[in-house]
Amino acid sequence: MPQTRRTDELMDGTALTAPRTPSPRDAPVLRWGVIAPGGIAASFVEALRTHTGQRVVAVGSRDADRARAFAGRFGIPAAYGSYAEVLDDAQVDIVYIASPHSEHHAHALMAIQAGKHVLVEKAFTRNAVEAEQLTTAARRQGVFCMEAMWTRFLPHMDVVRQVLDLGLLGDVLTVTADHGQFMNPRTAYRLFAPELAGGALLDLGVYPVSFAWMVLGPFASITAVGDTTDTGVDAQASIVVTNDAGAHGLLNTTLHARTPTTASVSGTRARLEIEGDFYAPATVRLVNRSNEPLGCHVPVLREGGLCYEAAEAARCVAAGRLESDLMPLEETLRVMRALDRIRADLGVSFPSE
Ligand SMILES: NC(=O)c1ccc[n+]([C@@H]2O[C@H](COP(=O)([O-])OP(=O)(O)OC[C@H]3O[C@@H](n4cnc5c(N)ncnc54)[C@H](OP(=O)(O)O)[C@@H]3O)[C@@H](O)[C@H]2O)c1
Repeated sequence: MPQTRRTDELMDGTALTAPRTPSPRDAPVLRWGVIAPGGIAASFVEALRTHTGQRVVAVGSRDADRARAFAGRFGIPAAYGSYAEVLDDAQVDIVYIASPHSEHHAHALMAIQAGKHVLVEKAFTRNAVEAEQLTTAARRQGVFCMEAMWTRFLPHMDVVRQVLDLGLLGDVLTVTADHGQFMNPRTAYRLFAPELAGGALLDLGVYPVSFAWMVLGPFASITAVGDTTDTGVDAQASIVVTNDAGAHGLLNTTLHARTPTTASVSGTRARLEIEGDFYAPATVRLVNRSNEPLGCHVPVLREGGLCYEAAEAARCVAAGRLESDLMPLEETLRVMRALDRIRADLGVSFPSE
């Protein structure tokens, strides 16, 4: 059931158009296998348990004890000490790949070749070449494949898409978005490790870049400045993108500061503001040229937003679709090319690239 208009709190006089996002509970049920039970895998499984009817039936870790501990924590029936065993399990319909960026290509390719549908954590791969290989393999194998860019599937992003489609902003001129977190190299090793394809851009910056792409469409130009960590991954980047219509995107990401993590889309008639964290369930406000509020969307669900991407994957798989219209592989590919270009501007490459 789509959420109704009542879910949008009437604020500032008007509610923005209601999201069309179906309830995650109503999605057809898939049997999920989880590869790489780290931090986000735990959040994903928790979100599925709390907000969907999806079944997590297997987990695989490089270490059998870790797999058993994760399975015990979430009541998952099968725990394997290797990823390959998850792929051999006939009970598994779809595999959620939650390993570091450097490993996505190998793990997703294994799953695709085993005939499993895949949901691959963001950033999809280290670079566009790997992304193209996964895309080709999934299409050849005829399995569903999607980047787990969870923001795309959140209800407030559907409100943004509707406002854009209705032309309420007039001509879009400027998009802003940032994602910076203060990361400690001692506790966030992965983010500072070149061999794991760490850095601000693939972990955090992918959100503003993907958002700008959703709003602006294909980038006509990309320019970035930034700097690197002592370990040689990108620490901070400020990025300017343009599209063919002459609109600009001003994007920032950093590992060294907690930035507002807000986003905005300004047009000739009105502006959309998304509160921080814009990439998570967030309030969206529509403001006119005189800076007066026109309407507001307030999310119903603040926690567990990863349930929406799982529900989208489940709906697509049940309908026999190999891609999601909300995050098509072609768009993931183009975002990966943009990330490559930004890293080139920053002079950052990963080992064995
Ligand atoms: N959607 C979101 O909100 C969100 C948030 C955070 C992260 N992410 C994404 O999720 C992915 C994983 O991030 P995370 O923060 O969950 O990472 P994490 O906590 O470090 O977990 C990654 C897991 O990958 C496995 N792994 C496989 N090969 C590895 C290697 N060579 N080195 C280290 N670990 C390896 C490990 O599990 P085993 O050894 O037990 O197999 C590890 O626990 C990334 O793509 C990241 O961008 C998404």
